Amino acid sequence: MNIIKDTDHILLMYDRKRKWLLKVRQGENFATHKGIVYFDDIIGKQYGTCIFTKPQGFKMRVFKPLPSDFILKMGRTTQILYPEDCGLILMYTGIGPGSLVLEAGTGSGALTCILGNYVKPNGHIFSYDIREKSLKQAKKNIQKAKLENVVSIEYGDILKDVEHSDLDSVVLDLATPWLAIKRVKNFLKLSGTFASFSPTIEQVKKTVVALEGEEFYDINTFELIKRRIIVKENATRPTTRMIGHTGYLTFARRIQEIENPYQAKKPEKAEKVDLSDLSDIIKL
Ligand SMILES: C[S@@+](CC[C@H](N)C(=O)[O-])C[C@H]1O[C@@H](n2cnc3c(N)ncnc32)[C@H](O)[C@@H]1O
Repeated sequence: MNIIKDTDHILLMYDRKRKWLLKVRQGENFATHKGIVYFDDIIGKQYGTCIFTKPQGFKMRVFKPLPSDFILKMGRTTQILYPEDCGLILMYTGIGPGSLVLEAGTGSGALTCILGNYVKPNGHIFSYDIREKSLKQAKKNIQKAKLENVVSIEYGDILKDVEHSDLDSVVLDLATPWLAIKRVKNFLKLSGTFASFSPTIEQVKKTVVALEGEEFYDINTFELIKRRIIVKENATRPTTRMIGHTGYLTFARRIQEIENPYQAKKPEKAEKVDLSDLSDIIKL
């Protein structure tokens, strides 16, 4: 439905830099430096409309929030995953409607929100963290994003407490992912996918070595670099400042290793053929 109702979320935009993620409530308002926005002027209208502040009359745009708006504007107690990294995780894990996914650590729940949005309506995200502060903040964010039905957030140490089976994917964003690989391998169904986000190359190396030592295949690590392009007549170019580094993403697929039955039957070394009788025909 495109009509804005009482308690719905909106993204209110004055310009590219000044934008707010808000919950509209009947009879209430939001004060900006450009004037007051009355929610009653918004409720009942369509997403994508414009309204004007009172009394100054500045134009504000009202959009339906995207998952990326939620994560960039959400309350946080930890570093969060950025939308571009979340996007690659979706592509390389195949997480989609109906997927059963384990995530650790939850952190502020930014990635949890993105994953939750994609597994709807009948998939589930089982998300774990060992910090009470993170769990509290992430639960608030999940509630705000109205994802409580598809996301459960619990205390759990992925290195020892948590148990699962038959999952489609495991996604890790924690300091020591390599220590979790032996355990999470058993949580995955065959051909299930693994993803891990790490800010440093040292973490990536240890993670890849651990994956190679377990039953994982198709191991790939990527780094995404996003540049915004400023488009102006005769002056179109990348922006001067940018986020130069977020982290590295390592992906793998769970395989059941089977011993090669043909290896034992390798043909023995061919005997040397005596060609001396053919010396009339061929020059030896
Ligand atoms: C960088 S944050 C994750 C941020 C999250 N991806 C987001 O987008 O909001 C890392 C989290 O991993 C948690 N963590 C560290 N070790 C853990 C473990 N063994 N089991 C579960 N969570 C763990 C930390 O408490 C922290 O909250």
